[in-house]
Amino acid sequence: MATEPAQQQPLLNNEEQAAIGILPPSHWEEQSTVEDPDDDSASTIGSFISSTASLSSTIFEYRTIHGRTYHGEMGSAESWEPNDERHSEALDLAQHVYTVVLDGKLFNAPLDKKKVQKVVDIGTGTGLWAIDFADEFPNAEVIGTDITPIQPTWVPANVKFELDDCNSEWTWPDNTFDFIHMRMLFGIVEDWDAIFRQAYRTCKPGGYTESFVCDSTFRSEDDTVKDDSALAQWGKVWNAAGRKMGRTFEVFAHNLQQKGMEAAGFVDIEVKDYYVPLGVWHKDKVLAEKGLWWKIHCESDLEGYLNYPFNAVMGWTPAQTGVYAAQLRKELGDPKYHAYTTVRCVWGRKPE
Ligand SMILES: C[S@@+](CC[C@H](N)C(=O)[O-])C[C@H]1O[C@@H](n2cnc3c(N)ncnc32)[C@H](O)[C@@H]1O
Repeated sequence: MATEPAQQQPLLNNEEQAAIGILPPSHWEEQSTVEDPDDDSASTIGSFISSTASLSSTIFEYRTIHGRTYHGEMGSAESWEPNDERHSEALDLAQHVYTVVLDGKLFNAPLDKKKVQKVVDIGTGTGLWAIDFADEFPNAEVIGTDITPIQPTWVPANVKFELDDCNSEWTWPDNTFDFIHMRMLFGIVEDWDAIFRQAYRTCKPGGYTESFVCDSTFRSEDDTVKDDSALAQWGKVWNAAGRKMGRTFEVFAHNLQQKGMEAAGFVDIEVKDYYVPLGVWHKDKVLAEKGLWWKIHCESDLEGYLNYPFNAVMGWTPAQTGVYAAQLRKELGDPKYHAYTTVRCVWGRKPE
């Protein structure tokens, strides 16, 4: 069942947005929307290949915002991700993209296959990481948690999914998991120190916790990404929306993964950054392929990604966001913009 909420008030007015360098949404409406006949960006794609909750009915009472559905009420959860089929397909694709970025790996922590018995993937989305991990570790029991039931039902016998708000007190006993995995939880976690404290408590001595997040700002080293480009505006708007939601997207910029793990008491912490050029401009073939996948990732349900932060939080109209999205697509396909993001994986061990 879907319910349309009362019209949301924009949380930042135009003056406040301008003060932090965000172009007014009307800027994008003034851009030409005429398709460039020479624009072949699309064709480049073809050239590469509880609080654990029981299923109460409110879980299925999805909210609808501008035609997209969002999770039902659960604790204080406020997720910016739609939970409809279109977005679930984008999350499935993301599993492939993130694995390509990690050079085919699912994680970096030095896990001992013979010893790993119990694993949790916090904020699992459509659960593909948990399923792939369970295939690789057939002797481990893998739990995937999320606040919305978008996971498949036909899964390996050693996988199960639970509804759980990661910002509430975790209900698992101390020393439960050999491995705790959290991927792309920016804009979702209320307090990064607190979540790593919970991970530390529920991790077994000798077990590992790993976090994967990308930089929410698109940057360039040669100033080809100018302030007024859609690529540069991306981070400004996302970051402002995260501040207003009280769930930061600036996890990479503030190094919150490493700081949180250190503060919680993890040891042997390692940080690995993966450079991801956006689009296919990079000369290095491996990086260009990663860039193509990240471009496809951004473009897959771009409107779904933008709907909550841009429209519901920042108060843009769907039409303004649509024109912005069209310009972003253009820039992602234009090799003159040398934009990149960084994926940061941080992992650490709970001492024995
Ligand atoms: C960006 S997606 C990442 C999904 C998955 N970890 C991945 O990397 O493919 C974030 C996920 O977190 C879930 N989520 C949002 N708020 C949450 C919360 N408070 N507790 C648990 N999961 C949450 C969303 O429903 C969504 O599936």
